[in-house]
Amino acid sequence: MKQIFIAARGGPEKLQLRESADPNPAAGQVRIRVRASGINFADIMARQGLYPDAPKIPCVVGYEVSGTVDAVGSGIKESWIGKEVFALTRFGGYSDLVTAPERQVFAKPESISHEQAVAIPVNYLTAWQLLVVMGSLKRGETVLIHNAGGGVGLAAIDIARQIGAMIYGTASGGKHAFLKERGVHEAIDYRIKDWAVELNRLTNGKGVALITDPLGGNHWRKSFKALRSTGRLGMFGVSVATNSKLAGPLRLLPVALGTPLFHPLALMNANKSVFGVNLGHLWHEPEMIAGWMEILLKGIADGWVRPHVDKSFPLERAGEAQSYMEERKNIGKVVLTM
Ligand SMILES: NC(=O)c1ccc[n+]([C@@H]2O[C@H](COP(=O)([O-])OP(=O)(O)OC[C@H]3O[C@@H](n4cnc5c(N)ncnc54)[C@H](OP(=O)(O)O)[C@@H]3O)[C@@H](O)[C@H]2O)c1
Repeated sequence: MKQIFIAARGGPEKLQLRESADPNPAAGQVRIRVRASGINFADIMARQGLYPDAPKIPCVVGYEVSGTVDAVGSGIKESWIGKEVFALTRFGGYSDLVTAPERQVFAKPESISHEQAVAIPVNYLTAWQLLVVMGSLKRGETVLIHNAGGGVGLAAIDIARQIGAMIYGTASGGKHAFLKERGVHEAIDYRIKDWAVELNRLTNGKGVALITDPLGGNHWRKSFKALRSTGRLGMFGVSVATNSKLAGPLRLLPVALGTPLFHPLALMNANKSVFGVNLGHLWHEPEMIAGWMEILLKGIADGWVRPHVDKSFPLERAGEAQSYMEERKNIGKVVLTM
């Protein structure tokens, strides 16, 4: 099989195409001949040595694939063979052949392409956990979605729109027209304006009920302040670490130093709550994930889940694909195809 390895810590040039032996599905697994593989920001952080969950380098990352089942392990029904599926993979997704436990594999709806299918698992499950499961967003409430133009961002917009919330989003200015088409009521260019000042103006000083924040460090402090009473802050990433000029994992230092401490008494007195989301730490809850996925697949059928692929790159151009995201060019999902 063909795989993209992170050969060493560093820039996109550290991604290398290599041939490896074809994997055989173990008991309880299916093997998928991959047609599309999703890129996530975590993959870039893994390459930069900033993602503690990643396997030891050299490694193959990739959390999601879509394709056709071509073999099954013991204990798995042969009827899977030939089925078009998409799956969550605990790494190894940047490959043209992948094995995954049956419980992480879902039938691909016929109405969407393999590229669109890989825009679902990580993006929509994360957004569902943030907005619905832990963020309890309700009709008529206000939500601020940071990085609204990214993969998780667009998924969060779909869910907030379906709930009937008032949506604020931060993103680079060039993405605003598209975001408004997708359902964002007010878009803020956080790269040229102080988004907190702008949000304060737009909400007449009230703040919002829910904020989803993947930037981390000091940014979480700012988001917490921007919540109204009974507001919730969902923290789920540390993208700001990639901005630092320090070397390797030292880049996490400014994030760690800037991270606020939330004291229980201060939370009580502020009538606010904070919570964390890490989909990559939920492998032991497959039934929960399957339940969320069932709702999202119904959302595909009903038309409110709209997985949006910005750009596809052939597997061997994975470095270019990651650069495209690092340069903040993407609106929605970036995908590798085979
Ligand atoms: N905890 C979890 O379970 C989980 C799951 C999925 C993703 N995440 C996190 O959610 C965030 C978004 O992930 P994603 O995969 O959907 O990626 P994404 O948002 O599509 O990532 C690229 C976008 O992020 C924005 N961005 C913000 N800071 C950036 C920086 N320092 N460098 C480059 N781009 C930056 C840029 O858009 P604008 O400049 O237009 O905003 C860029 O287009 C990441 O922090 C990721 O780690 C967490």
